[in-house]
Amino acid sequence: MPIKGLTLLSVASVFTLVSAAFAAGHLTQDQQRAMDARNAHMTLYSFNLGKVGAMVQDRVPYDADVASAAAANLAALAAIDEAGYWVEGTDTSIEGSRAKPEIWADMAGFEAEQVKLATATAAFAAVAGDGLDAMKAGFGPVGQSCSSCHESYRAPRE
Ligand code: HEC
Repeated sequence: MPIKGLTLLSVASVFTLVSAAFAAGHLTQDQQRAMDARNAHMTLYSFNLGKVGAMVQDRVPYDADVASAAAANLAALAAIDEAGYWVEGTDTSIEGSRAKPEIWADMAGFEAEQVKLATATAAFAAVAGDGLDAMKAGFGPVGQSCSSCHESYRAPRE
């Protein structure tokens, strides 16, 4: 039963990983999962933004279908409720976290940044398939929304 063996092995390695993280950063399993989830979400933002960013910078030719799909993904991602990601005790005091304590000191401001991105990505998704110029115009506010939240709420890489 190779499949069962594999499953057991995976469960065992995940458990080891989680225990190691717990020992290193004094995180609970729920805190570690929340951090993993938000970083995965950010990675998906980055992947989809990169697809259209390459067209904006003329590194790849404009492709309406690819641009529309990436913009729709960004809008869908930005519409996800992120409340569960930003759990107490997972700020920069934890090794590996770049989430500034300002997030928890100013949750309303942080959530306003999420809304800003949701608005920008929805507008972007509406025009991304309408030619390179329209796509470029819609792209600007999306990139600015990522940067504006990072400036206020993400610590620089160490
Ligand atoms: C509402 C605020 C906010 C918005 C909007 C936002 N981010 Fe982030 N982002 C963060 C924070 C905070 C972190 C640090 C999280 C941590 O270290 O736990 C982060 C981390 C990241 C990371 C690093 C992930 C990792 O694995 O270390 C990437 C890449 C990233 N963001 C890309 C983006 C892109 C691209 C966008 C826009 C499409 C975006 N983010 C929008 C707050 C935001």
